[in-house]
Amino acid sequence: MTTLIINIKQLINVRAKNELLRGNALAELPVIENAFLLIEDEVIADYGNMYELEIKVPQLPKHIIKADEQFVLPAWCDSHTHLVFAGSRENEFVDKINGLSYAEIAAKGGGILHSAQKLNDTSEDELFNLAWQRLSELSKLGTGAIEIKSGYGLSVAGELKMLRVIKKLQEKSNLVIKSTFLGAHTFPSQFKDNHQGYIDSIINEMLPVIAAEKLADYIDVFCETGFFSPEEMEAICLAGRQYGLQPKLHINQLNSIGGVQKAIELKALSVDHLETMIDKDIADLSKSNTIGTLLPTAAFFLRMPFQPARKLIDAGCAIALASDYNPGSSPSGNMNFVVALSCIQMKMLPKEAINAATVNGAFAMGVSNETGSICIGNKANLIFTKPIPSLTYLPYSFGSNLIDKVMINGEFVTN
Ligand code: NIG
Ligand code: FE
Repeated sequence: MTTLIINIKQLINVRAKNELLRGNALAELPVIENAFLLIEDEVIADYGNMYELEIKVPQLPKHIIKADEQFVLPAWCDSHTHLVFAGSRENEFVDKINGLSYAEIAAKGGGILHSAQKLNDTSEDELFNLAWQRLSELSKLGTGAIEIKSGYGLSVAGELKMLRVIKKLQEKSNLVIKSTFLGAHTFPSQFKDNHQGYIDSIINEMLPVIAAEKLADYIDVFCETGFFSPEEMEAICLAGRQYGLQPKLHINQLNSIGGVQKAIELKALSVDHLETMIDKDIADLSKSNTIGTLLPTAAFFLRMPFQPARKLIDAGCAIALASDYNPGSSPSGNMNFVVALSCIQMKMLPKEAINAATVNGAFAMGVSNETGSICIGNKANLIFTKPIPSLTYLPYSFGSNLIDKVMINGEFVTN
């Protein structure tokens, strides 16, 4: 089918080709005013200013959509989530209000272990249904591409169950979905004093099945004091590499323990979180090809210092924004709020935030050849705004739903 969208007030993030943006380039957001967009068979076929329409599209298709007063931008690319989980953890929300820290909650058997218990008690079908509901909510909020991690199984059966749910989501959803194996999220209690035993299980029992069933695109490790050390992360990532899994890693959420340097050495696609960055971490990251993925809603929810976005951008690091959607540290996958928060609390410019949540987000999940910008050949995954005075109004007016409709693969999301 051919669809023509006309009279677009501003067509945002139009690019001849996707390039990873760093430094000043992150603030450049190419726009066409009073634009048209042509979609053929689910992908972007052409675009331009309305005055070029007659020349570029001599024969108008039957299906024409008028987007008067609307801004059209690429759908969000959320490159870090834990969307598959069994139950919420609002009891910990109250523990935190009462003064307990994230580490204290984890130490008393809450946190990730609590989620793992619930997940292992939940059937694959039930997990799929829960995840499907969350995914359809997110697509209405403008997310068109998403990375989803395992990591609440922490047993061979549980991790495989999660990854099979993600695979089913990939098969059934028209969103772009990437899957990451995060068996190394924490040590399950039976391996509390036998870290090597659990690492052996990841390497010898989980990874071979994951590879054989093609259940993951990436491998992740929570590198943190009290969780996995940089050396343990290295052993797991090197094993993953044997199966072609590139690392995308949880780094420097609570402490700076050399994870950034080890991740760069391991050629990680991204290092994610980065709440606690020392100057050397920033300098080393800026010289690497590894993307720094900032998760401001996790810092917000846990009342932690926000990621030093300005320092990272000004040092020349490539950064992306993602939601970290999970029941413990970010029970929201709303990328509109992620973008707003990055401007409000991390002093990112609205243009930088939009680029970091689209183009660079697509790079941080390895899908920059199919989504993240208005580029010929990219999937027609689009956000249509309600009438707003300017694009800057999006993050400024945080909390309002300013999305009129969302298009995925050339079709409007309806349910
Ligand atoms: O990215 N920090 C590690 N993992 C998640 C939180 C997991 C949880 O608390 O359930 C995160 O914030
Ligand atoms: Fe996370």
